[in-house]
Amino acid sequence: MKYIAAPMVNQSDLPFRRLVENHGAMMSYTQMLIPERLLNDQEYLEFHLRDLTLWGSERNKPVVVQLCGNDPDMVVKGARQVQGYCDAIGTISIDLNLGCPQETAKDGHYGAYLLGQKDWPIVEGMVSSMSSSLAVPISAKLRLCQPLPKTYELSKRLEACGSSWVTLHARTVSARRRRQGAADLDVVKELKRHLNVPTISNGNVKEHADLKRNLLHTGADGLMVGETLLGNPCVFEEDDPDTTAVSLEYLSLCNKYPGTATLRTVQAHVRHFVEFQYQRRPWYHKFRTAITNATSVEEIEHLTRYKLAKWLGREPVKHDVDEADPHGFPSEDEKECRSVGDGQVEVEVMNGNISNCLDISPARKQPFASIDSQ
Ligand SMILES: Cc1cc2nc3c(=O)[nH]c(=O)nc-3n(C[C@H](O)[C@H](O)[C@H](O)COP(=O)(O)O)c2cc1C
Repeated sequence: MKYIAAPMVNQSDLPFRRLVENHGAMMSYTQMLIPERLLNDQEYLEFHLRDLTLWGSERNKPVVVQLCGNDPDMVVKGARQVQGYCDAIGTISIDLNLGCPQETAKDGHYGAYLLGQKDWPIVEGMVSSMSSSLAVPISAKLRLCQPLPKTYELSKRLEACGSSWVTLHARTVSARRRRQGAADLDVVKELKRHLNVPTISNGNVKEHADLKRNLLHTGADGLMVGETLLGNPCVFEEDDPDTTAVSLEYLSLCNKYPGTATLRTVQAHVRHFVEFQYQRRPWYHKFRTAITNATSVEEIEHLTRYKLAKWLGREPVKHDVDEADPHGFPSEDEKECRSVGDGQVEVEVMNGNISNCLDISPARKQPFASIDSQ
């Protein structure tokens, strides 16, 4: 089984990717990155390089850095900004976003707004340029084309241009109703028949049982999950998570990887975890207000350990008991090293020698080993 965490803007932060990897994801995507900003916005570049540096500092599962755009040169230049990290780590690949439905993508003419046949030369130009200029595998993630058979035709072209696998989010683009309606998994099944490179199925996973159903139906080589992971980061495992435990696990990962998730991102994640199981509880609105008003990760952690536990009718979840701190509150020193700062991170990047998830033909660059061999 090859389970993959989807790219999600502002939600695919390193602590979250690590969390889902701890609970069964075998590969994860970064959020969509904008090449122009990787080149012209130092703060943006540093933020995302910090993520990749910390990610690469440990033995880990593969990560796919997703880029968007409509200009082959720009996309290649943006990819080169992160490729240094890819070279060092050896388990990164780069994905091209051909599925973003947002108005900004419409205005900027990228994402799903390149799926019309008239724009295929642009798409082919980007994938070919990336494939010939970069030393890492390239992939593409798209939505359904109109009419549907065009999806197979475009995907075959992407394969011919050097895409090492294709992910299909099997819905058509709709800016207003982004993920509503069922994904058309028959198209994924058919796409699998058309491609020689691996096909990744995306859409319709609401609960654990859907994983097997989806893979059985589509015959896909891998299965990507997005929105459901936000509420249930353990969906790849059989059992629903303990909300407090999973929230604290995520928060401890935020502390472990400082400066890789903004406060808003952390608030959103913990809110989603709690919402998933307790949205209808009378105290949920109090929780929501408290988390929205929290001004630091420590405050969110305190809320989770004490108030959330109380609302759930449980004992507070104290820190590992510290003689000097019988209440379990973090010491000032602890607080300092936990703060989600923007400081420059200096981490030695170790060579990753992790097998990747997908079987890619040996003819392709840096062929991945099968996940089964891990
Ligand atoms: C909050 C959020 C942000 C997303 N951001 C991206 C993105 O940056 N790039 C992308 O290709 N898709 C993005 N998506 C789409 C997901 O990757 C995925 O294709 C979609 O949610 C369908 O899968 P699902 O039904 O499992 O959620 C996003 C989805 C969500 C919920």
